[in-house]
Amino acid sequence: MIPKGVKIEEAKGKLGVLLPGLGAVGTTVVAGVELVRGGFSKPIGSLTQMGTIRLGKRTDNNVPMIKDFVPLAKLEDLVFGGWDIYNDDVYASAMNAGVLTRDDLGKIREKLQAVKPMKAVFDTRYVKNLDGPNKKTGKNKMDLAEQLMKDMADFKKANGLSRLVVVWCGSTETYLEKSPVWDTPETFEKGLKENHESISSSMIYAYAAIKSGFPYANGAPHMCTDIPALLALAKQAKIPISGKDFKTGQTLMKTLLAPGFKARMLGVRGWFSTNILGNRDGLVLDEPLSFRSKEVTKLSSLEYIFQPEKHPDLYGQLYHKVRINYYPPAGDNKEAWDNIDLFGWLGYPMQVKVDFLCRDSILAAPVALDLALFMDLAQRAGMHGIQEWLSFYYKSPMVAEGLYPEHDLFIQLMKLKNTLRYLKGEDLITHLGLEYYD
Ligand SMILES: NC(=O)c1ccc[n+]([C@@H]2O[C@H](COP(=O)([O-])OP(=O)(O)OC[C@H]3O[C@@H](n4cnc5c(N)ncnc54)[C@H](O)[C@@H]3O)[C@@H](O)[C@H]2O)c1
Repeated sequence: MIPKGVKIEEAKGKLGVLLPGLGAVGTTVVAGVELVRGGFSKPIGSLTQMGTIRLGKRTDNNVPMIKDFVPLAKLEDLVFGGWDIYNDDVYASAMNAGVLTRDDLGKIREKLQAVKPMKAVFDTRYVKNLDGPNKKTGKNKMDLAEQLMKDMADFKKANGLSRLVVVWCGSTETYLEKSPVWDTPETFEKGLKENHESISSSMIYAYAAIKSGFPYANGAPHMCTDIPALLALAKQAKIPISGKDFKTGQTLMKTLLAPGFKARMLGVRGWFSTNILGNRDGLVLDEPLSFRSKEVTKLSSLEYIFQPEKHPDLYGQLYHKVRINYYPPAGDNKEAWDNIDLFGWLGYPMQVKVDFLCRDSILAAPVALDLALFMDLAQRAGMHGIQEWLSFYYKSPMVAEGLYPEHDLFIQLMKLKNTLRYLKGEDLITHLGLEYYD
């Protein structure tokens, strides 16, 4: 239970943001923050930078910016670093990703060239379609975790940081079946020493972050901190964690549209979604086991929003299909098609077709930035374990055992803002109008 109006430590000094994975999303976050800091662009899409929050009654007219209401780290105080299996610095990697223009990247070239990836913990067993030269070697997985902890400590010291957060922007790992090695911190640590195959590279990063006392957010759909051993470690060490899978593109659209159909009690018989994308993420997802990780997170949102068990007449027959097609010419500019077969009054059928020509990393970068800032806030506010109030940012939000995840974007936003109000001791907004009784 979070006490109302908690003491939040000030955001003093610099905040390190370490990204495992400096590919399309990772470089777009770093370059984006540099462009904003340089006054070249605006942080569009970032709730922490552009969002407001209403306080008190509507008549109070008190609507501060979120960044002025809660003590967030300032963009000027962020220092970025990361790991990747490729040697490219952030400038070269961003050029290769092709998300931002040469013109934009040229404005901040030196700053981006200064961010060079540290050697990654990587094993092709978990990401089959990739390999690269910039990797650590060690006698076992525990040794690799210790090397990561040293990277984090060295980065903190070298940059004179007061705090650090880790946000996974690396590739999607293969789907792993549940293993007893995930059960407790003890079984997990034994597994690290014995090189257990059910411990993926991303779990090693998460373990290293938690053990070092740094919050960890998971932007990919694979299992990571959502295993009992790492959940328990995060609780013990009082570290905030959150995940998983940045909510962008098609799922963002789904969680905008589906709550609307449900609110009006319109039925949905079928929802067919297909994605056409040509970036490295698409290449990784072309591999069936990595796709399986993604499919699980992509499929779950509609089930939870529609609650077919409570509304069998409306959603009991829903057929939901998700496809991802790797098509290199598309690059990072993904096309997401949805065909929705819905029905209204007396069961009469209708269709909605959505063709979202989106830019994946343009949608993901502000999400990664906000998560870094809010995870740091959570730690300074003494919040630990799963940060459900950040579900707003995820396709498949992590929740405490026994609870179901909230997927409705508008409920998620209300939860996020009410958490901020609660932390600052402000009244929660209920939208209840008592004027009818005046
Ligand atoms: N782009 C989006 O809109 C979006 C949305 C939701 C989730 N995601 C997820 O975010 C992640 C990154 O997406 P992206 O488009 O930037 O992909 P990307 O392929 O461009 O970048 C991922 C980078 O991670 C590196 N990497 C892989 N394993 C690593 C490891 N163990 N350690 C360090 N580096 C490692 C790769 O070499 C690559 O450079 C993916 O898991 C993707 O599914 C992206």
